[in-house]
Amino acid sequence: MSERGLPGGRRLTRRGLLAGGAVAAAAAACAPASAAPDAAGRAPAGQQEPLPGGAAVEPFHGVHQAGVATSPQTFAVFAGFDLRPGTDRAALTRLMRLLTDDARRLTRGEPALADTDAELALLPARLTVTFGFGAGLFEAAGAGHLAPRPLPAFKVDALQPRWSGGDLMVQVCADDRVTLAHALRVLVRDARSFATVRWTQHGFRQSPQVRAPGTTQRNLMGQLDGTVNPRPGSPEFDRAVWVRDGWLRGGTTLVLRRIRMDLEKWDAADRAAKEFSVGRRLDSGAPLTGRAEADEPDFAAAGPSGLPVISEYAHIRRARVADPGMRILRRAYNYEDGLSPEGRPDAGLLFASYQADVARQFVPIQQRLAEVDLLNQWITPIGSAVFAVPPGCSPDGWIGETLLS
Ligand code: HEM
Repeated sequence: MSERGLPGGRRLTRRGLLAGGAVAAAAAACAPASAAPDAAGRAPAGQQEPLPGGAAVEPFHGVHQAGVATSPQTFAVFAGFDLRPGTDRAALTRLMRLLTDDARRLTRGEPALADTDAELALLPARLTVTFGFGAGLFEAAGAGHLAPRPLPAFKVDALQPRWSGGDLMVQVCADDRVTLAHALRVLVRDARSFATVRWTQHGFRQSPQVRAPGTTQRNLMGQLDGTVNPRPGSPEFDRAVWVRDGWLRGGTTLVLRRIRMDLEKWDAADRAAKEFSVGRRLDSGAPLTGRAEADEPDFAAAGPSGLPVISEYAHIRRARVADPGMRILRRAYNYEDGLSPEGRPDAGLLFASYQADVARQFVPIQQRLAEVDLLNQWITPIGSAVFAVPPGCSPDGWIGETLLS
């Protein structure tokens, strides 16, 4: 039985917390009693009123898990776990109840039960925690027939086991990196007796301070990335992203690809070649046949030589899907994991694709891109994993209940 310290020197036992008896004590210990302003109305150092961005909450409960339709936060970490031998269906139920409880509290700015650094939980900064189940979890639960199917091999793949696979995935996103680190630490701590960490992948996007929510971000190649994407709230989004029947109803699937960018080689290309490879301009994100980002590309337009303005091999032509309800939702994050001794960045994209049906939506696009895509000169997929993302849950439910209970 572990005992954990709380601010104010109080100690709580895990059993007591899980029984709910000590929750009030935990809340009291973390309540901003010590943050009462002094006579001059000044908050004590370190206890100022949170700014709106810090206090912002993304609702945890609902038909869908948060973190998919949610306007992307600035930071993300994807953590892949391997289940420990012997983690069976009953253990998975305990694990998911525990992790759901952590996520429920942390996302509303409350410490998790027995949180050892309770103050770090108080600024949720739009924290979301999203769970995904890999094939191994289904096997462990005795439900292998429901497992997501592995992707076929693509000829561009140079996959490394250290960035691939995983039985359980936890995606944590927030507008604050400290909030994110704390949430990850809590979740990993509570998963530890059930699972080991296989990989963690950190990503970032342009923050809401520099780019208004809802506008397209730039990736590390400098491109506006995310222009043609299902819009949350639209019927096309619902059709493209959410599963409509079975245990996964209200859920989705995630394909996470770690795609390395050869930025030195990209630096050597001229602007025209860069724009030609995608079929869009670098400055405005407009298609080569248009003026504004939102303009429809004209794939039939030909230049003076009679050749198409947007190449047959351009990324946007190869990736295009005619039916908007069959698109994938791209919610990508940049990664940059330091420099080689020669100063080469280890950088790229954590390409997170959500769709109702991997085989019908993601695979055909990736297959076309793997066959021919001018962008392939500079990008290489080095990690790959597929997860079922269960539906959301109600305040007295838990993530995974439609599969495990
Ligand atoms: C590092 C890798 C990648 C980079 C840098 C990249 C970059 C881009 C850029 C700049 C655009 C145009 C703007 C936009 O609509 O977002 C785009 C569009 C798109 N990309 Fe990628 N992409 C990458 C990988 C992928 C992969 C792996 C897939 C799918 C398997 C994909 C699917 C799409 C789709 C569906 C579009 C929209 C096409 C349309 O106009 O209908 N991309 N990408």
